[in-house]
Amino acid sequence: MFRNRWIRFLSGTDGKELSPSAYFSSLPVLETNRLVLRPLKRKDAKDIFSFSSDPEVARYVLWEPHRSVADTKAYIRYMLDLYHRGLPCSWAVTLRYSGRVIGTMGFMWYSDANSSAEIGYSFSRSEWNRGYATEALRAVIASAFSALPLNRLEAQHDIRNPASGHVMEKCGMKKEGMLRQRIRNKGELVDVALYAVLRSDLEP
Ligand SMILES: CC(C)(COP(=O)(O)OP(=O)(O)OC[C@H]1O[C@@H](n2cnc3c(N)ncnc32)[C@H](O)[C@@H]1OP(=O)(O)O)[C@@H](O)C(=O)NCCC(=O)NCCS
Repeated sequence: MFRNRWIRFLSGTDGKELSPSAYFSSLPVLETNRLVLRPLKRKDAKDIFSFSSDPEVARYVLWEPHRSVADTKAYIRYMLDLYHRGLPCSWAVTLRYSGRVIGTMGFMWYSDANSSAEIGYSFSRSEWNRGYATEALRAVIASAFSALPLNRLEAQHDIRNPASGHVMEKCGMKKEGMLRQRIRNKGELVDVALYAVLRSDLEP
């Protein structure tokens, strides 16, 4: 089994490899030094709205800033449905000491055929540059390669958002290239940098 040093405690998988649908329908709780990653709950709406309504947080992601808590509640309902259906989904990233949700991180897609997946994330602006995204991504990489039959985990970022690439690099993902005008973001075709980590990059 893939071993890791980035998760203090991993509940829900007992170190066993699971099918993607079993993993997503019962997303494990991941604890790190400062964070707990757990499935979203309805009561998270206020915390998540507080950062998902920030245009700066939404600037380089594919969703629009939430206009009201109703948008956030709809997002949470959508996520609960993904858990229910065992489809690629996200964690709420919470602070251990207070329980406050400061971000979300999760799977954009999962390919059984290629044993690959993509991760995405966003964090509250008030918490940027404290190492939280790096801490959370390390835990997610460790969990994903430990519990899923995964060979390749990708992430991509708008090249105008280098902080995100820095997070990927700090987590051992390798930059594979720049894809020109790959994505339409808020009406504009933008260049993205593609990063990935392979199982063989992590195992001795
Ligand atoms: C990108 C994002 C997730 C980073 O989260 P974070 O918690 O601040 O990340 P970390 O603190 O773990 O690491 C950020 C790193 O980027 C660096 N950084 C910050 N601004 C930077 C910039 N303009 N250029 C290069 N590096 C930068 C920080 O110094 C830090 O590196 P360090 O630890 O070596 O000092 C956060 O800014 C965010 O949520 N942005 C909005 C949503 C988003 O863009 N999501 C990513 C979509 S691909």
